[in-house]
Amino acid sequence: MAENWVLTTTAQTPTNIAVIKYWGKRDETLILPVNSSISVTLDPTHLCTTTTVAVSPAFQQDRMWLNGKEISLSGGRYQNCLREIRSRAGDVQDKQKGIKIEKKDWEKLHVHIASYNNFPTAAGLASSAAGFACLVFALAKLMNVKEDLSKLSAIARQGSGSACRSLFGGFVKWIMGKEEDGSDSHAVQLVDEKHWNDLVIIIAVVSSRQKETSSTTGMRESVETSLLLKHRAEEIVPKRIVQMEEAIKNWDFASFAQLTCADSNQFHAVCLDTSPPIFYMNDTSHRIISCVEKWNRTEGSPQVAYTFDAGPNAVLIARDRKTAMQLLQRLLFHFPPNPDTDLNSYVIGDKSILKEAGIERMKDVQALLPPPEVKDNVQAQKYPGDVSYFICTKPGKGPVLLSDESLALIDPKTGLPK
Ligand code: DP6
Repeated sequence: MAENWVLTTTAQTPTNIAVIKYWGKRDETLILPVNSSISVTLDPTHLCTTTTVAVSPAFQQDRMWLNGKEISLSGGRYQNCLREIRSRAGDVQDKQKGIKIEKKDWEKLHVHIASYNNFPTAAGLASSAAGFACLVFALAKLMNVKEDLSKLSAIARQGSGSACRSLFGGFVKWIMGKEEDGSDSHAVQLVDEKHWNDLVIIIAVVSSRQKETSSTTGMRESVETSLLLKHRAEEIVPKRIVQMEEAIKNWDFASFAQLTCADSNQFHAVCLDTSPPIFYMNDTSHRIISCVEKWNRTEGSPQVAYTFDAGPNAVLIARDRKTAMQLLQRLLFHFPPNPDTDLNSYVIGDKSILKEAGIERMKDVQALLPPPEVKDNVQAQKYPGDVSYFICTKPGKGPVLLSDESLALIDPKTGLPK
């Protein structure tokens, strides 16, 4: 084949945050979990991965670039995803470009992959979830794989467990399955993003100097040493999954918040029960929990839910916009930006909440009064600089194809990143 055509497909895939956590594998290679989990997909406008996959007879090997830098594809997780997708490839024809690829050709053809996160990879915001979901989704489209999204989720799962939940929008359940080959361990959509569209999500990206234990290593150590994890997976989570599904279906925010907070706290308790213990949350994370707990208690019913993954960042879910506004006022009171920080880069994403809260300039932040539930000077403390920035967002949709070729990350002439 001496042809020099390049065929590309570009997709955009959201990240997700678990409200019932996945923590622990029963099979490390296939990535099969010890319990089912439930997540909410975050609006891709604010947090997503864009991936272009390209194929050409001129490509010598599979290559990948992440945020402009070439990375190795030799890892087992990439290889498993590539192999699983290739084995399901179909015939592809692009009449306009005069390209015809037959099913059997895919085994010999190589791909170039370019991927870009619209949020800092280092911020610890589940970039691998969006990344593997996007890779699998884009490759499946390029190679004309006919399988449905749930089947694709089982492939993305082999890249990173939490990635299987990023194939859908709204609220998503990863069914743990029981087969040894993992064929029944995949994600399903519970409700789409329109079902509960009052919810507002505020993420506090917490400053941290410490390099955290990776999820993969952390959960391996928990499985090996934590008896609490065994109890959680066998006794607690199965019941919580049922309750959480009910809460979501019925817009029952009180139950939703109670379950979300309890499950996050239990996941971190499992980390503490691991030997040696793993600490993901820091003082700032704990202060955010106290602030939300105190407020919820004063209101008499939960207004905001919190959840933390394998790092100190807080994901806060407010019942509606009005509550989100009040939450942001509280957060900015306790965690104002450093004096040299621009408010515009301190609260990012959907800034309209900030406007509605009447906060347009730094002097508005300085003028914030302690929230009414704060009773003394100790509780009214401020911690400037302890939060790097806030992201205001909401539940969002699942993966989409970007058909506008100008949005591709790979140049169709050179086959290399633009
Ligand atoms: C705490 O999916 O990153 O975010 O499957 O080893 O790649 P691997 O782990 P990963 O773990 C995510 C753990 C979590 C909870 C969750 O997302 O459910």
